[in-house]
Amino acid sequence: MSTPTPPSPYNRTNPFKARITENYSLNNEGSAKDTRHIVIHLGSSGIAYVPGDSLGVVPRNFPQAVDELISHLAIDPATLIEQPAGAITFRDLLINQYIINRVSKKFVKALWEKLPEGEKKTQLGEIVNNDEALTDYIFTRDYTDVLIEYPVKLTALEFIPLINKIAPRLYSIASSPKAHPGEVHLTVAVVNYTTHGRAKYGLASGYLGHGQELNQDEVPVYIQPTKHFHMPPSDANIIMVGPGTGIAPFRAFLEERAIEGAKGRNWLFFGDQKRASDFLYEKQLTDLVSSGVLTRLDTAFSRDQAEKIYVQNRMYENAAELWKWLKDGAYFYVCGDAKRMAKDVHQMLIDIAQQQGGLSPEAAREYIEVTLSKTEKRYLKDVY
Ligand SMILES: Cc1cc2nc3c(=O)[nH]c(=O)nc-3n(C[C@H](O)[C@H](O)[C@H](O)COP(=O)(O)OP(=O)(O)OC[C@H]3O[C@@H](n4cnc5c(N)ncnc54)[C@H](O)[C@@H]3O)c2cc1C
Ligand SMILES: NC(=O)c1ccc[n+]([C@@H]2O[C@H](COP(=O)([O-])OP(=O)(O)OC[C@H]3O[C@@H](n4cnc5c(N)ncnc54)[C@H](OP(=O)(O)O)[C@@H]3O)[C@@H](O)[C@H]2O)c1
Repeated sequence: MSTPTPPSPYNRTNPFKARITENYSLNNEGSAKDTRHIVIHLGSSGIAYVPGDSLGVVPRNFPQAVDELISHLAIDPATLIEQPAGAITFRDLLINQYIINRVSKKFVKALWEKLPEGEKKTQLGEIVNNDEALTDYIFTRDYTDVLIEYPVKLTALEFIPLINKIAPRLYSIASSPKAHPGEVHLTVAVVNYTTHGRAKYGLASGYLGHGQELNQDEVPVYIQPTKHFHMPPSDANIIMVGPGTGIAPFRAFLEERAIEGAKGRNWLFFGDQKRASDFLYEKQLTDLVSSGVLTRLDTAFSRDQAEKIYVQNRMYENAAELWKWLKDGAYFYVCGDAKRMAKDVHQMLIDIAQQQGGLSPEAAREYIEVTLSKTEKRYLKDVY
């Protein structure tokens, strides 16, 4: 098994201020996505990590988005706000400490209470007094959207308790420290969407993808060591299922295995929307096939044909071989979307155990969920 992550003085409450040294698109022209390769330099921090770990990132807001919000609040951005470490301006406080891209329920409720009696108050009242309607309402709106619909004046001290503090986001590390000493690489899908006529970014993915000057701005980061997503012994075979950004830890695994000259065989299932524009790390992966590090690379491009083809379809097409690998002791790893992909891949594993192992539905489930996952610990997930 790989060695545990060495301890570090940097953590969630004391992040290291790193710098981004590279940031480029992993998608080609014509893609519907904005997936970026981000290289973060760890400077003199001495931070160490192992493949399978994640990087915690403490994001901040785009100053332009904060300025737009402040103009609707009609609060002086230079208003000083007392903080434990000394007073800072309202503008800096919002940039660095508070979520502004998703409106809170308590803000909408407080705003409704402040509205003068009339049509607008009645309209918003129907939303705030129905929790389902309120959940729907806040899903697509930020504070500026709400203030445009319901202009209300608030002081800074009234506003601050109504908004939520920024929490760090995790990203699976996409690099082997042996291949890239002093660096952490990430594969970041930038969340972006337009609602109510205004374009928005996800807080952390927007910040990493489009909010930082290379080699200049400070990005607070820390290593979140994995508890369970470790690489197996170097002679073990591994099957990796990583569509979309799920590829990230497997790039790290493969780089590590290439450098170590590991004897175990490596099989990767990768998928994304279109081969021409969304084959993330295509050159590196096909080179790894040529050099023999990657024994098999099976791809599933979901939108290159009328019907969807997903990674689990490729698993099914290769069921006999996949079952043989598992019975011969291979480790099975899956990374990426938890809500749909990982569930379907899990079901496909059970179907393959049933079909190829001749097991009853109950015995197949028991094999995947108990024997493989818990007893032998050969089925490992990093899903989000
Ligand atoms: C262990 C772990 C590893 C991870 N690894 C990676 C990784 O390698 N790469 C990666 O990219 N991410 C990864 N993530 C996810 C990452 O942590 C963030 O959750 C992700 O980047 C979104 O965060 P954000 O701050 O950009 O978006 P937020 O500001 O949190 O908000 C984005 C959310 O807004 C929602 N939303 C609201 N309204 C709309 C709308 N109208 N249209 C569309 N969406 C809308 C989206 O559903 C989205 O979830 C990982 C998560 C975990 C827990
Ligand atoms: N539940 C969610 O809302 C959700 C889940 C995952 C990611 N995201 C967001 O989407 C953005 C991009 O994420 P990503 O780059 O990691 O890729 P992704 O959206 O997870 O997509 C990668 C590939 O997986 C396919 N896919 C969709 N459903 C699947 C399923 N049930 N089984 C197997 N494969 C499936 C996609 O196909 P198609 O898109 O053609 O169907 C695509 O080809 C991120 O911002 C992320 O936060 C949202």
